[in-house]
Amino acid sequence: MTITTCVFDAYGTLFDVAGAARQAANEPGQEMLATLWPQLAEDWRRKQLEYTWLRAITGNHCDFRQVTADGLDWALEAQGLDNTDLRARLMALYDALPAYAEVPSMLKTLKSQGFATAILSNGSHDMLASATTTAGISAELDAVLSVESVGIFKPSHRVYELVGSHFGTAPDQVLFVSSNGWDVCSAAGFGFATAWVNRAGLPMDRLPAQPDHVLSDLTKIPEIAGAK
Ligand code: LAC
Repeated sequence: MTITTCVFDAYGTLFDVAGAARQAANEPGQEMLATLWPQLAEDWRRKQLEYTWLRAITGNHCDFRQVTADGLDWALEAQGLDNTDLRARLMALYDALPAYAEVPSMLKTLKSQGFATAILSNGSHDMLASATTTAGISAELDAVLSVESVGIFKPSHRVYELVGSHFGTAPDQVLFVSSNGWDVCSAAGFGFATAWVNRAGLPMDRLPAQPDHVLSDLTKIPEIAGAK
C-alpha cells in the first residue's frame, strides 16, 4: 500500500542523545568529564532503555523523565561522580538535545511532498515539546505522540497502535523510522514499513521481524517514502 504517513522515533533518531554529556563536558568547571563523557552518555542511554523495558514487562510504568533521571543516577555513580549540580545540568541539557543536521530539511521535504509527519516516542509530552521547540521543527510535525497516552513504553504494540488511532492509517500506510534496532524490528513486526537509521554501523538485532531499509542517516527518507 502507498505510504501516507512518516513517523519518527525521537531520542537517538531525530535528537542526538549523546549531546547532553558532550555539551556538559565543554562547559567551564566540568573538566572531569573530558574523557568520561562518552562512557557516561553510553551508560545513561543503556540504563534508561533497560528501565523502560523492565517497567513495561513488570507493569510498573512511570514517565520517561523518571527513567531518564534513574539511568543518569546509575551512570554518574558508575563513574564515581556525586555532583548534584552536574546531575541537574545534564537533565536540563536533555530537554534541549541537538537535532541531527539533516532533520529540519528532511521534514520540510516530506511536508512539501504531502506526507503526514509525526513523532512516536517514549518521551513525555513536556520533554518532547521542549525538544521539538529547541530544534525548531514543531511546524513540520503534524503530531507528537507520546506513550503517556497509553501508559506503557515501547515496544508494546499499544504504543504503535497510537499512529492508526491518530491518523486513521493502516499499518502498511506508515513508514516508521528509528535508530533503535529493537524499536524498528518491533515496529516491523507490528506491520509498519520500516527504516533503521544505523549511524553507528551496529549489527542487526536478532528479533523476529527485520526493517525494510537500513540507512546511515535520514536524508533518503523522502525518497523511500515516495517510492513505496
Ligand atoms: C524514543 C526512544 C526509544 O524516543 O528513543 O521512544
